[in-house]
Amino acid sequence: MTDQASVREVGLRDGLQLVRTILPSVDKIDWCRRQAAAGFAEIEVTSFVPPSIIPQFADAAETLAGARRIDGLLASVLVPNLKGAMLALDGGARKITFVLSASEEHNLANVRRTTDQSIEIFRSVVAERAARGLRDDVTIAGVVATSFGCSIQGDVPERRVFQVAQHLLEAGADELNIADTVGYGNPAQVQRILSEICRSAGPVPVAAHFHDTRGMGLANVTAALEAGVRRFDASLGGLGGCPFAPGASGNIATEDCVYLLEDLGIDTGIDLDRLLEVRRRLEDWLPGERLEGRLLNAGLARTFKPARSR
Ligand code: COA
Ligand code: ZN
Repeated sequence: MTDQASVREVGLRDGLQLVRTILPSVDKIDWCRRQAAAGFAEIEVTSFVPPSIIPQFADAAETLAGARRIDGLLASVLVPNLKGAMLALDGGARKITFVLSASEEHNLANVRRTTDQSIEIFRSVVAERAARGLRDDVTIAGVVATSFGCSIQGDVPERRVFQVAQHLLEAGADELNIADTVGYGNPAQVQRILSEICRSAGPVPVAAHFHDTRGMGLANVTAALEAGVRRFDASLGGLGGCPFAPGASGNIATEDCVYLLEDLGIDTGIDLDRLLEVRRRLEDWLPGERLEGRLLNAGLARTFKPARSR
């Protein structure tokens, strides 16, 4: 059987939160539709945060509503607190990614709470889902940001990352997402941390979220694969970065990540030619924004074969 992995597009959330251009909802939904048609089963389509903090997501409810109408697409949304989760549930979200940070300093800068307070809020989000009778309908993922180091605090002790992940599991997380928010991770560290997280998560899936700030992104993907991870976040054109983490920059580019996985013989279900068409269109949607990624300019290797065609 072919090895499989899934790639979740986060460009509409992580990517757009750091760009100047406010993309109209219709373009956001068009982007989702095209990427779903290229084979993406899940896209993080927006973020439920106050518009005063990130104006790009003032249209969160509208974007979610449009994305929910796309056949076969799981439209996930990021939330930083209970209020965001309530708005997401009101809007019919079927997957919520709740973000907190292993770095105390980053958590305070990002969501104005201590990490322990955010863990408590995560419990209240799980309770809110139960109170609405949505236990079987809504997936709640816990994102542990700054798991490999922090540009505010510096070192983030590995035992703290494991502890935070454990609290999220005990609180009922359906998925863990271990994030290198500022691109500090290296492959040895990634393999060590993610092997332990995968072991302690048992049947709960573990996703990895890498930024390519220092060129380690795809190396970290291969290290995570070795640790057993089969879910990856990536951002089209390598957009992205946390506005509340100094020096943060883009995620690994979706197109390069998919190419890596497929070239390694790991089936992603994604059609790379169609994905590159969406990547070209991104330049029209975001004129003047700096886009990264190697594959668009280089093209597929002549010898390249998608995993499922071998
Ligand atoms: N969506 C919309 N409005 C929200 C909200 C949300 N998720 N959370 C809070 N609000 C509103 C409250 O209702 C309140 O409104 P009011 O003044 O009209 O009563 C106001 O915002 C302040 O609420 P409060 O709970 O005191 O928030 P805060 O000022 O302590 O800020 C966060 C906390 C989490 C809302 C803020 O730090 C945040 O949005 N962080 C996210 C940062 C981010 O997106 N980072 C990048 C992704 S990792
Ligand atoms: Zn990120």
